[in-house]
Amino acid sequence: RVLVMDFGSQTAQLIARRVRDQNVFCQIVRCDLTADRIKELNPKGLILSGGPASVYSEGAPRVDPGVFELGIPILGICYGMQLMCHLMGGEILPAESREFGRAACSSKNSNRLFNGLPETFNAWMSHGDQVGSLDGMFEVIASTKTCANAAIQHKDRPIYGIQFHPEVTHTEFGAQLLSNFVRDICGCSGAWRISSLIEQEKQIIRDKVGNNRVICGLSGGVDSSVVAALIAETIGDQLSCIFVDNGLLRKGERDQVEKNFTEHFKTDLHVVDARDRFMNELAGVDDPQKKRKIIGKVFIDCFRDEAKSIENAKFLAQGTLYPDVIESGANPDGPAATIKSHHNVGGLPEELGFELIEPLRDLFKDEVRRMGLELGLPEEMVWRHPFPGPGLAVRCLGEVTEERLSIIREADAILIEELYAAGLYRDIQQAFVVLLPVQSVGVMGDARTYENVAAIRAIESEDFMTADWFPFPHDVLQRISTRIINSVRGINRVVYDISSKPPSTIEWE
Ligand code: XMP
Repeated sequence: RVLVMDFGSQTAQLIARRVRDQNVFCQIVRCDLTADRIKELNPKGLILSGGPASVYSEGAPRVDPGVFELGIPILGICYGMQLMCHLMGGEILPAESREFGRAACSSKNSNRLFNGLPETFNAWMSHGDQVGSLDGMFEVIASTKTCANAAIQHKDRPIYGIQFHPEVTHTEFGAQLLSNFVRDICGCSGAWRISSLIEQEKQIIRDKVGNNRVICGLSGGVDSSVVAALIAETIGDQLSCIFVDNGLLRKGERDQVEKNFTEHFKTDLHVVDARDRFMNELAGVDDPQKKRKIIGKVFIDCFRDEAKSIENAKFLAQGTLYPDVIESGANPDGPAATIKSHHNVGGLPEELGFELIEPLRDLFKDEVRRMGLELGLPEEMVWRHPFPGPGLAVRCLGEVTEERLSIIREADAILIEELYAAGLYRDIQQAFVVLLPVQSVGVMGDARTYENVAAIRAIESEDFMTADWFPFPHDVLQRISTRIINSVRGINRVVYDISSKPPSTIEWE
């Protein structure tokens, strides 16, 4: 595997993903790991990420200079390159101005790093400082107009530095360059596959679980479904799944989960019908935060009650993903915690007393999807848009009632059907209907109507931290609107939400 040392870069995760695209396993570690620890971890290569600091600023992150003596191939990107040169005697020029954007980069000689790349290619720059003079140890292997030392190589060691960012798609041939580094220079075989990971995780699960029973909470979403499918394949009837029907689900969601996990995976599935319990607790509540709190609490109560009825259960399986692990700071070798902008409702508290199994903790979302497909989960489940823990309750603005939920469910199903029909479902990362607590006047036939307004939300997003509204073709919007107004009783007006995040959020509550 290859390790990415993180100097606070916004693209450290992207670097790791791009390396994994080369079928090479890659993990992100903190930048202050000692050379001894790195040696113990025994990576085939190291990538030093970019970062916002200047090597001269106080408290700028450093790396143990011992890593340069380990004989492991190293690629420094942007700040990573500057730091490397700085520690090995080169001179870093403070920024007079920032360079940001594409620059034509020409490689000076045929270097292994640039194998298969044209002599000149567009590289994406985003830096202030740059490497000025090189100490005698390095030689220049590529330049741009404004950056003489755009890429460098150590004269006797497999240590490289590049000022540009090969991990972003704006850099042409970035994938080829990373492949040259990890496959050719580091000698990684490129044999890392989802299928080998599945086998590896199965073995870990078997060793850990023994004859005990594992509980897995299903939500209908892709992460928990993949966890359950993986464990079901590994230990069969030692797995019990709990699915809490809180009455706040999308149309057909419960049926789909039941069908998959009783027919296909033949799991011991406990469906807790808690619809009345949730509705009773939510009656009369219209404050968004209160709704969330109630739903979170009732969910945990229901889950706990059901879990008690399952004998011998020692483990709880959860669909924690790699980005959550990175952001939580939970891994001692991983980078420090960052603050998440929202908290998931539906997370289970530690005091439930189970030992955790988290077989997806090394995976990015797209890898989880690939794993799901490989395990035989249906496409529509694997590609399903994310759905918040509090479900339709946060899309039913104001008080949640059965009647309003059923209006949303019908309208939402039409929206999703039309997205599939238009071939747009996968271009959009999340789309749903919000029922507003507003009535407006309309006319149907000869009669005046006074009914609800529904808003459509559809967004494009990489990571759900920022998002843009989707630029729908007008005819698709028109079909969605006409079908909803004609066939969903209770809605006489449809509006489209054209707000980006920030400043708006994706959900309305
Ligand atoms: P916002 O509305 O914060 O949403 O822009 C970002 C993403 O998170 C989902 N979301 C939630 N997921 N529990 C969840 O499990 C929640 O309480 C929650 N609130 C928002 C939202 O659907 C979007 O994908």
